[in-house]
Amino acid sequence: MSILSWSCSLQLMFVLFSILSFSLQASEPPLTLNYYESNCPNVLEIVRKEMECAVLSDPRNAALILRLHFHDCFVQGCDGSVLLDDTITLQGEKKASINKHALKGFRIIDRIKNKLESECPGTVSCADILTVAARDAVILVGGPYWDVPLGRKDSKTAGYALTDLNLPSSDEGLLSIISKFLYQGLSVTDMVALSGAHTIGMGRCVNFRERIYGDFESTSGLDPMSKTYLTNLRSICPPAGGEDDKETAMDYVSPNFFDNSFFHILLKGEGLLNSDQELYSSVLGTETKKLVQKYAENAVAFFEQFSESMVKMGNITNPETYVGGEVRKNCRFVNT
Ligand code: HEM
Ligand SMILES: *[C@@H]1O[C@H](CO)[C@@H](O)[C@H](O)[C@H]1NC(C)=O
Repeated sequence: MSILSWSCSLQLMFVLFSILSFSLQASEPPLTLNYYESNCPNVLEIVRKEMECAVLSDPRNAALILRLHFHDCFVQGCDGSVLLDDTITLQGEKKASINKHALKGFRIIDRIKNKLESECPGTVSCADILTVAARDAVILVGGPYWDVPLGRKDSKTAGYALTDLNLPSSDEGLLSIISKFLYQGLSVTDMVALSGAHTIGMGRCVNFRERIYGDFESTSGLDPMSKTYLTNLRSICPPAGGEDDKETAMDYVSPNFFDNSFFHILLKGEGLLNSDQELYSSVLGTETKKLVQKYAENAVAFFEQFSESMVKMGNITNPETYVGGEVRKNCRFVNT
């Protein structure tokens, strides 16, 4: 057996193991669309209004909130754990290396929480706020609408170590990323559709340096426009370290607009992140490649799948919060 196929079968074993361990999780009470109907009927309007202000003042805020929700859900389920600050007794997730310098938007959530605490104290969980805010963020930059099931509880713990373990990074291989989604109960289709979130927001030099001095040239080919784009990227992000935190749009076509141009960029071989380009260019990605082509051709199909996959991601629950969860008063700290 060659080294390559050996490492592939190892990956496959990890995938199978992941599916098994997922199905062993306990079942939780279902989330419902009308969860706050009687005790906080204006919750959706309040979140929407705050998100409108935030996105109007800076469209980047939509990306910040969407990513926060993703990073919440992949670590102990969507339980608001990502929002917790470090204290003497709690190590939060914010300083895990994948989140450090990269997660923002916490003040927007604080603002929404404050409004909700004065309207209906102790009622709406931070995990639900983040889920609704992420949905609104997408709508406000031109993306699809979907109904958000509610009733999550906030965790009393955070998963510092799980953060770098569960979340995918830009230098990770396609199969490894797929296995991380399968572990969360999300399919390859979910993974490709959800990656379409990179149609908004920015990436930092440290996360695309290897790509632009590596295989960007070979995936994007001889197109003069691609060459110009690459030159521009290299001027933003020098090869020899430094400028790690310099940012550029992941979708240079329409960075503040939620559409399917991200997938067009992958067809051109111009994906900013290595992990994104692999969806289309990896020799191991026949299935992902077809999906990229489909979503590039058909924006409606992308929107429909993205909506469904966002609900599925939002459904990842933390079984611990079923008995040990709470509604935090302040999203940054567990209640005393
Ligand atoms: C498929 C695996 C994924 C990988 C490897 C990945 C990786 C990354 C990386 C490296 C960045 C740039 C962060 C930085 O440089 O500071 C980023 C940004 C972002 N990601 Fe992902 N991501 C993935 C999936 C997702 C999903 C599922 C969502 C949401 C549904 C998402 C939403 C975002 C958003 C909105 C941004 C922009 C944030 C900003 O503007 O600050 N990503 N991602
Ligand atoms: C999400 O959860 C709700 C309630 O538990 C359920 O009705 C719905 O089918 C789930 N949706 C997806 C896409 O998994």
